Amino acid sequence: MGPRVVYRTRHRQPRACARYSAAVKAGNPTLSSYGTTIFEAMSALAREHAAVNLGQGFPDDRGRLDLRKAAADYVIDGHNQYPPMMGMPGLRQAVAAHDKRFYGLDVDWQTEVLITSGATEALLDCFLGLLEAGDEVVLLEPAYDTYAPVIRRLGVVPRAVRLVPPTWSLPRDELAAAFSPKTKLLVLNSPMNPAGKVFTHDELTFIASLVQQHDAFAVCDEVYEHLIFGTARHIPLMTLPGMRERALRIGSAGKTFSVTGWKVGYITAPAAVLRPITKAHQFVTFTTPPNLQHAVALGLGLDDSYFHGLGAPLARSRDRLASGLASLELPVLPCDGTYFVVLDVSRWLRPDEDDIAFCRRLVVEAGVVLIPMSAFYEAGPPRHLVRACFCKEDATIDAALQRLHSWVAKHR
Ligand SMILES: Cc1ncc(COP(=O)(O)O)c(C=O)c1O
Repeated sequence: MGPRVVYRTRHRQPRACARYSAAVKAGNPTLSSYGTTIFEAMSALAREHAAVNLGQGFPDDRGRLDLRKAAADYVIDGHNQYPPMMGMPGLRQAVAAHDKRFYGLDVDWQTEVLITSGATEALLDCFLGLLEAGDEVVLLEPAYDTYAPVIRRLGVVPRAVRLVPPTWSLPRDELAAAFSPKTKLLVLNSPMNPAGKVFTHDELTFIASLVQQHDAFAVCDEVYEHLIFGTARHIPLMTLPGMRERALRIGSAGKTFSVTGWKVGYITAPAAVLRPITKAHQFVTFTTPPNLQHAVALGLGLDDSYFHGLGAPLARSRDRLASGLASLELPVLPCDGTYFVVLDVSRWLRPDEDDIAFCRRLVVEAGVVLIPMSAFYEAGPPRHLVRACFCKEDATIDAALQRLHSWVAKHR
């Protein structure tokens, strides 16, 4: 048995642990009510059914050998005690230089860069450092699944605005209406997981005007900043006029160097805004493994060709998967960046079947794991969309397509 998925159950009362129910009080009700994440649950199902896993977003690729060797050598030869709380100077300098090189940003590495244990911790630190109970946060859905639970746990109210598929267009009036005098910040994820959308300059200008109008912050989750395809261009919101003093940029070495297990993240923010966030980091993890910081600093210093070369092979994998899926009457929505495509499974849904039940059935019947898109919505999600991860070797993509082909042949 895999772990039980408890989906969108935040209104349920948590139960005390059955074995110790007489003696032990229940945990925090907000977090207890969320259950195991769909990613963990689907990966467990994948193992149980020996399925091809196009669910969780991690590459088959092992990452660059030079960076892995640098990390390994540092464990043997380097200083393995607590590094500085803000991050090792070499890495903070490398983040500032990277921001200058790719986006023309002038960043003071000593006061405006914080190293964290992954973008996940960076997001938590930003929320802990900036928000207080009663505030509101504007989110764009489909939204990466860690934002809302943490925001709710802080007693903050998420105001979700849904992008409209299939092109994931921005409903500008709804976005404007989601802001209020209580809005403390907006979370912007571009390139966007799971939609594969890269926000345009025009959309960013509109978003920036709302953020400024409401004197809010923008926490910009830019972990896929270099994973963009074709003519799409990643524009940090921080680079728009008036946004330098109110935007925070979050990057992740996991995505940029194909080492998702390393969990090294970095925040760039104005010094005064970063200060309370640094306090949060100080009490959450305090620091991040020094060998990994050392290797990521080397990585961020690689030639432009490394960063500019990341999109093309991923775009080829996207196209390989998308064309195979389309031939199985599983059309994919447009995707300009990230590791993911969204596919429309309407043709294959049973009456009364939702995306979660469909994905579970697909693991059992076809041996392929996909992620139901409802995992990325707070309430009332579309039920005909699922996410597939394409940052895989050709053999993995082909194996998934082969299995889906056999499954379709049986069910057509
Ligand atoms: C949009 C988004 N933000 C943040 C993260 C977390 O990044 P990290 O692994 O560096 O914690 C992910 C990972 O999948 C992501 O997709």
